[in-house]
Amino acid sequence: MIRIRSFRDGDLDALYDVCLRTGDAGEDARAMFLDPHLLGHVYAGPYARFSPATAFVVEDGAGIGGYIVGPADTVAFEDALERDWWPALRLKYADSPAPRTADERMRRHVHHPRRARPEIAGAFPAHLHVNLLPSLRGQGVGRRLLDVWCETVAALGAGGAHLEVGTRNARAVRFYRANGFREIARAGEVLTLARPIRDSSRAWTTDRAKVFSFRRRPSSGRAP
Ligand SMILES: CC(C)(COP(=O)(O)OP(=O)(O)OC[C@H]1O[C@@H](n2cnc3c(N)ncnc32)[C@H](O)[C@@H]1OP(=O)(O)O)[C@@H](O)C(=O)NCCC(=O)NCCS
Repeated sequence: MIRIRSFRDGDLDALYDVCLRTGDAGEDARAMFLDPHLLGHVYAGPYARFSPATAFVVEDGAGIGGYIVGPADTVAFEDALERDWWPALRLKYADSPAPRTADERMRRHVHHPRRARPEIAGAFPAHLHVNLLPSLRGQGVGRRLLDVWCETVAALGAGGAHLEVGTRNARAVRFYRANGFREIARAGEVLTLARPIRDSSRAWTTDRAKVFSFRRRPSSGRAP
């Protein structure tokens, strides 16, 4: 049985772990980083801390194997991080003016996080990250996570959502396009995709976890 439920505080380590194992354009990034927490400090931790109501995890018999995170209001989220998240990390991690390694790129990000362009955050205020370990892919789990997240951010007032994805992550680009996202900007190898969301007023709340079952592919042992 594969189950989607709301994020809980005790899931944080699993979020960081999935983030790292899917952090190289969808593939395992563990070999790229000397510090295994850096990627999660940028792409997992702040979402759990500042927008827990819009964070959902997927679990099966092997534990948590995926998640979707992302705030309904990107501008407010970025403001909160500037105030209460980045300062402590900036004390811990030195800036890297000319980053070459994965660690250096994340350290650079900690000191100089890019903010969403105002016209994008205005038209598509929510943004998201969705990551599944290989054993959970290709069975409709990502689509279901996206549905749950969209319902939730819509109920919180977001009329649209955006995300960034690398062009070399072909599977993810195909997934987003199949789920209604369209390209609205491109900078080098990074696409910004966006879509409107309708408010169905069926938000999930922390006490309203729900169980879905998915048809599993035969070879679905947890990897790697
Ligand atoms: C991108 C990602 C979230 C997509 O999630 P997913 O659960 O694999 O997506 P879905 O299963 O909904 O759809 C993927 C494919 O499975 C197919 N599928 C859906 N339900 C299915 C089922 N029950 N049985 C078999 N195939 C199914 C879909 O038709 C789709 O096919 P396609 O790839 O040929 O278009 C996931 O692959 C992932 O986490 N990748 C690694 C991390 C990553 O890259 N994240 C994005 C960073 S920007």
